[in-house]
Amino acid sequence: MSQANSSEADSNVWTIGRLINWTNQYLSDNGSDSSRLDTEILLAEVLGCERIMLYTRFEEDPGEQIRSKFRELVKRRAAGCPVAYLVGHKEFFSLKFKVTTDTLIPRPDTEDAVQAILDLAKNNPSQVNTIADVGTGSGILAVTLAKELQDCRFLATDISEAALAVAQENAHSHGVIDRIKFRVGDLCIPLQGQTYDIIVSNPPYISETEIEECSRDIRDYEPQLALVSGPTGMEIYQRLVPEAQPLLNPGGWLVLETSPMLAPTLKETLEKQGYQNVDIKQDYTGNPRIVLGQV
Ligand SMILES: C[S@@+](CC[C@H](N)C(=O)[O-])C[C@H]1O[C@@H](n2cnc3c(N)ncnc32)[C@H](O)[C@@H]1O
Repeated sequence: MSQANSSEADSNVWTIGRLINWTNQYLSDNGSDSSRLDTEILLAEVLGCERIMLYTRFEEDPGEQIRSKFRELVKRRAAGCPVAYLVGHKEFFSLKFKVTTDTLIPRPDTEDAVQAILDLAKNNPSQVNTIADVGTGSGILAVTLAKELQDCRFLATDISEAALAVAQENAHSHGVIDRIKFRVGDLCIPLQGQTYDIIVSNPPYISETEIEECSRDIRDYEPQLALVSGPTGMEIYQRLVPEAQPLLNPGGWLVLETSPMLAPTLKETLEKQGYQNVDIKQDYTGNPRIVLGQV
């Protein structure tokens, strides 16, 4: 083969670099606003390597078997399926969590709920021993807090048995299962019979009209049970805020994640209910995100 023919043949090889460039454009054309990141996560998954390692393998031909697995994932991503469901995990607070279509995909905003609780615990270390996470989903709040607060005991609940099973797996893989109890049930019903220093929740708070305006990745793939609260978005809070109050120890805190739009109304709801020191904390983008109040 002449030199010219050889380089012509080389340029037709679907190397890792070429796959990345092509797929980035393809996913972008098909509605992904994080196409490069999506591409790299999916390719790293099928190659079984860290994403960072792709950069040392640009010239490599991964072979037909890998390309075929990758093609399948890319097709599903282009149809709207979120990357986290395709690979089965998502990072939260620098920890890897299993996710399935029964669980919400962890959002970075929720890390601010973790931070708010770590701040409360830092200021009153002897007063934070028991924490309940209502609507735990994949278990990110209970598990992350259990890793950070080694002396605390936790209750994690959810109305979805399937979600709770995923939370249990995550607690097991992060080595904190011995300090977290799991119970299925509606809001605060599984908390009865004990009181807590902190009750935390990131409950469904999207309204029935808002969900129609969400992107297809959210609307068509994430569980409605995890997202939609009712006609206004406030319905779950309206039950949770009064239910949680008698289940908190004196001086205990209710910590709620919410949307920037609902934060002022939620603050008012806590104040009307008689919570003290009600405050709104901003998330990493500067939006009102966490509402907390003390009994
Ligand atoms: C927005 S997701 C949050 C999941 C997880 N805590 C997180 O931050 O990623 C809300 C969770 O609440 C659960 N849920 C919905 N309605 C509930 C109810 N009435 N009682 C208990 N859990 C509920 C859903 O199954 C879902 O797992």
